[in-house]
Amino acid sequence: MPFTVDGVVPWGRTMDEYCGMFDLGERDLRRRILGCGDGPASFNAEMTAQGYSVVSVDPLYALEAEAIEKRVEETYDVILEQLARNRDDFVWTCVPSLPALGQRRMWAMRTFLADFSRGLREGRYLDASLPDLPFEDNSFDLALSSHFLFLYSKEFDLDFHVRALEEMLRVAPEARAFPLLQVGGAPSPHVEGVIDAFTAQDIQARIEKVPYEFQRGGSQMLRLRRRTAAQTGG
Ligand SMILES: C[S@@+](CC[C@H](N)C(=O)[O-])C[C@H]1O[C@@H](n2cnc3c(N)ncnc32)[C@H](O)[C@@H]1O
Repeated sequence: MPFTVDGVVPWGRTMDEYCGMFDLGERDLRRRILGCGDGPASFNAEMTAQGYSVVSVDPLYALEAEAIEKRVEETYDVILEQLARNRDDFVWTCVPSLPALGQRRMWAMRTFLADFSRGLREGRYLDASLPDLPFEDNSFDLALSSHFLFLYSKEFDLDFHVRALEEMLRVAPEARAFPLLQVGGAPSPHVEGVIDAFTAQDIQARIEKVPYEFQRGGSQMLRLRRRTAAQTGG
């Protein structure tokens, strides 16, 4: 039976994994970053501890810490069991083994939970959902979606993806999304439609290879960039 989950699951990655998935270098890390659907990832907590600037939005943040912890723990058993049954659909280099993966995900969640109440007070964790973001235009330099857009292509249609990415590009001049595969590993059917929609709006849309692969074949991100006035001759 292929890897499958019901609905969008709370499952969190680390800063190191975000750097690989989005090919983030030091220049990127210094930008004002918005994470869309960061869930229980430790990206925000780790970035903040190192002096960088990240705001994360996720409907999960409406819950109390205990409820989030419970949901992640419930997800843990389901995902680890699915991974064990579909081991060959994944590449075990960035993450060497199933126990290592489990430990890394729980470390990410605990690091997130330890930072959650402070992050809420500081406005770094906000209960909000794509395709509507509660920010002024250009509040950020870079908006990211890790393991939300494209991954859940069955739950969210092409129109949702275009509206979500338009909103990300309203609040930041650049948006990146990873992976371009769905749960189960098939390519997302929305990638081509998204690229066509943005190319028609004169927005740069590029698929780029990144140094991270866990779902087999999933080592590409989509990068969308608004053209600057200089580029458009304005
Ligand atoms: C699989 S998790 C990914 C977490 C994190 N980005 C990572 O890669 O480790 C997907 C997240 O998307 C969130 N989500 C669901 N619907 C959303 C929406 N409409 N807008 C933003 N995030 C959403 C879920 O609550 C969940 O935390």
